[in-house]
Amino acid sequence: MLRETLATRYVTPLREGGSLPGIVEADDLGTYVMKFTGAGQGRKALVAEVICGGLARRLGLRVPELVLMTLDPVLGPSEPDEDVQDLLKASGGLNLGMDFLPGSLGFDPLSYEVDPAEAARVVWFDALVNNVDRSWRNPNLLVWHGDLWLIDHGAALIWHHNWPTAAASAARGYDASDHALARYAPDVAAAAAELAPRVEPGLLAEVLAEVPDAWLEGEPGFAGAEEIRAAYVRTLAARARDIHERVTLGPPTTSRPRHRPGWLAARRPHPGEAVR
Ligand SMILES: Nc1ncnc2c1ncn2[C@@H]1O[C@H](COP(=O)(O)OP(=O)(O)OP(=O)(O)O)[C@@H](O)[C@H]1O
Ligand SMILES: [Mg+2]
Repeated sequence: MLRETLATRYVTPLREGGSLPGIVEADDLGTYVMKFTGAGQGRKALVAEVICGGLARRLGLRVPELVLMTLDPVLGPSEPDEDVQDLLKASGGLNLGMDFLPGSLGFDPLSYEVDPAEAARVVWFDALVNNVDRSWRNPNLLVWHGDLWLIDHGAALIWHHNWPTAAASAARGYDASDHALARYAPDVAAAAAELAPRVEPGLLAEVLAEVPDAWLEGEPGFAGAEEIRAAYVRTLAARARDIHERVTLGPPTTSRPRHRPGWLAARRPHPGEAVR
């Protein structure tokens, strides 16, 4: 189960995050990146964070610890930004915290040597959960104490936004051409051979048990939280079996990317990357 904490101080917003996550201190004296139930992305983004984070950690990938954080919106008035005030007001009760990694840096392939076996595990995992938010433009990877850490899985599990078409949608492949680690020509089949057998219904049920009922209930077509947990388990277990056969990698590159100014990187692909 995820630990439960109480938010005690809102420190500052993280403006680079689209969902306006904030740095928040808690009653366990920890510092967390808090993701709010009242954010525009909605509670399913938090469900995706809990499922993907829990699954990745159980598969040996590094994800900062996740905790449930109770927020009293009374913490808001000291914050001058109106957007933040509104977010805090809309997010009273249970929210999600991710352990803040102080001094971590955003992943930069020029200054970090990626282990191909680890890259393959990450690409396979992202294919499993259909994470479209780990591109070289926005890697959502941090380097901390010399290791790679995965963050931000709120946009994964795309199929849970439309359950009636979920089975068909989850049966589709995964285009990893833009993936931040695809250039390291990862052996995705080897990663699948190692990890897929571990993604069985028992492990998935353990992961799903960590999602609070309140974030699952009220889904049209389902009688309650347990029924929807079972649907997540079914969908992920099926995808784990053969998703590696449906991963598209871009043309493999042997060279490391050249340094590019930020304004160019935003508009044009890295050398060797497929133009789409
Ligand atoms: N656990 C953490 N430790 C340190 N910094 C973090 C952590 N989590 C997030 N950050 C920083 O905050 C930024 C925003 O976080 P995150 O990507 O999770 O938010 P988001 O709103 O989902 O963002 P996006 O705009 O990518 O959808 C990250 O790019 C990173 O710089
Ligand atoms: Mg992000």
